[in-house]
Amino acid sequence: MSKDKFTVTAALPYANGPLHLGHVAGVYLPSDIFVRFLRMNDHDVAFICGSDEHGAAITLRAKKEGITPKEIVDKYNGIISKAFTDFGISFDVFHRTSESIHHETAQEFFKVLDEKGHFTKETSEQYYDEEYNQFLADRYITGDCPNCKSPNAYGDQCEKCGSALSPNDLINPKSTLSGKTPVMRETSHWYLPMERHEEWLREWIKEGKLDGVQQHDPSKWRNQVIGQCMSWIDGGLRPRAMTRDLDWGVKVPVVGGDGKVLYVWLDAPIGYISATKQWALDNNKDWKDYWTGDRKLVHFIGKDNIVFHAVIFPILLKAHEDLILPNNVPASEFLNLEGDKFSTSRNWAVWLHEYLAAHPTKIDELKYVLTSIAPETKDSEFTWEEFRARINNELADNLGNFVNRVTVLTQKYYDGIVPTPGEFTATDLEVIAEMKALPQRISDLVYAYKLRDAQAEVMNLSRLGNKYLAETEPWKMVKDPENAERVQTIMYIALQITANLSIVLQPFLPSTAKILSTFLKFVSTHWEAAGGNELLPNGHTIGTSHVLFEKIDEQFVATELEKLNASKVVEPIFDAQKAETSFDDFTKMDIRLGTILEAEKVAKADKLLKLLVDTGIDKRTIVSGIAQHYSPEEVIGKTVTVLMNLAPRTIRGVESHGMILMAENANGELSFVSPEKDFKAGCGVR
Ligand code: MF3
Ligand code: ZN
Repeated sequence: MSKDKFTVTAALPYANGPLHLGHVAGVYLPSDIFVRFLRMNDHDVAFICGSDEHGAAITLRAKKEGITPKEIVDKYNGIISKAFTDFGISFDVFHRTSESIHHETAQEFFKVLDEKGHFTKETSEQYYDEEYNQFLADRYITGDCPNCKSPNAYGDQCEKCGSALSPNDLINPKSTLSGKTPVMRETSHWYLPMERHEEWLREWIKEGKLDGVQQHDPSKWRNQVIGQCMSWIDGGLRPRAMTRDLDWGVKVPVVGGDGKVLYVWLDAPIGYISATKQWALDNNKDWKDYWTGDRKLVHFIGKDNIVFHAVIFPILLKAHEDLILPNNVPASEFLNLEGDKFSTSRNWAVWLHEYLAAHPTKIDELKYVLTSIAPETKDSEFTWEEFRARINNELADNLGNFVNRVTVLTQKYYDGIVPTPGEFTATDLEVIAEMKALPQRISDLVYAYKLRDAQAEVMNLSRLGNKYLAETEPWKMVKDPENAERVQTIMYIALQITANLSIVLQPFLPSTAKILSTFLKFVSTHWEAAGGNELLPNGHTIGTSHVLFEKIDEQFVATELEKLNASKVVEPIFDAQKAETSFDDFTKMDIRLGTILEAEKVAKADKLLKLLVDTGIDKRTIVSGIAQHYSPEEVIGKTVTVLMNLAPRTIRGVESHGMILMAENANGELSFVSPEKDFKAGCGVR
């Protein structure tokens, strides 16, 4: 039977910010493991990725940072691609949608669909921001999600429930540019009438059949993928705009397209194709081999990308007529961090490039932990304490310990030469049988996209070895020369397990597998070899070893938690508005500007300053609770706001006549309310 051929894609990250561990655990690490495994199994495979450099995600970020979209994508493409290289994600190509080959490919694609009559052109009223003179699509508009009612859904998508939206669906729409409620204005766009595709989509998603021909096995698709698609289809497919009134993006290549670009969710997935083209050009291949015929197309994505990859892109691919549709869309759920969602705006994240800079020697450790907790079928959580526990208990105490025992004992007993085994006992045969069975189990799990369970089985191999040694105790037996042959047998089997580990670890912990290979002076990159009982023949000489995984101490965890908390941006939570008050009540307050003339600490009160304030009509003493925010020296000379007619109070033995008004932020810091112009003491405030 000839091997299946694969084209594997990993979602093109927006070049509008760095990658965090959530992206890595959900998309890039699982796809990399899958592809490394396929390569070891001699599948013909292309592993495609690149950065997504168009759309409002980019232009809004540029606006925020005060630089051009081009500068934004250059900056983040650099950070992202370097992080991927340093982390060892083995893409065949990491491309960019800003490259001209992509613009040409996307335009050509659009023209083919347009000529085949797959678009309709419609004029309609769309939201428009009059202050910024811009139509508001996608992330330029937010509002409440019509499905899950959560606030801040984007015009094209609710990130909370994953549903794909149109701006007109939003409840209480607001422009993200001006913050105002937009007006309606007429514009023309090309639409994809998705409702035309409903029938075949249902059959294809639910049964895996296209025109009656079996394309994929829907039982291998994750439930949430089928669930999200079906609920979207059941909700009624409608025409979806495929163009935008923007100047950043791929220009609409047909008459009437001036000033318009392709919708980013049309252009980005085509980026998989243009990346393949560039790679094929550079490697003397034909890109079409990777997008046609009996090849399996697999899209690794996060759950917020499901309908784009499992409904919209398949419609486009089918409409193009000669291209294959995805065989699977393994979408992950979300990873949380220390009890909270990853959030760029609150800077609640572990950024991959920062992790790599801080811990350049702990790459496989991170891979291991992220795969152990991968959010394959439900949301999961990363904590530094679990990171530590898994590295110490599993990598160091299980895997590292086993490898170390075997290599050290082999050096000690046999000068590193693999001994000749004697006869196998029943226990030996059981252990060997388990060692032979494991690679098949791992392989079945990988083909089923269950990488978390697959990695657990890899660890079971080393657990098997540890248990075998603990039960047979060769270090005790060796003391009696009569046991020499028995010890040789035990060590021989333990060595075979170690060699097997160096194979089955490769997709998951590639660097560790390499190091293990150098310890054993044994390299096999073929999965087929795994399970073998004579990988290290007797007489083979192994090398020396060192500790594979350093243990992590509590200080490490504490430092990481401190970093995380220190960089967190606190979202202001302000008090709700107080009950209504009358104008008359308000005018009873006498509020004026005053200048602080003198200041000193109040004895035995660490929060209080005693101030002498010139109010324009008198000089009076006011006690103010600001000593933890201002020193006496720095307040002298400041002009501040004073509530004059508050009944006098005695505070710590000092009579206070009035109150200084202060502003307070979310961190509880205080600020004077001072005039923005050069106004002097005595001016009334109303
Ligand atoms: N940039 C998108 C995101 O980060 C993913 C795009 S995937 C592709 O959510 F299909 F468009 F390429
Ligand atoms: Zn929603």
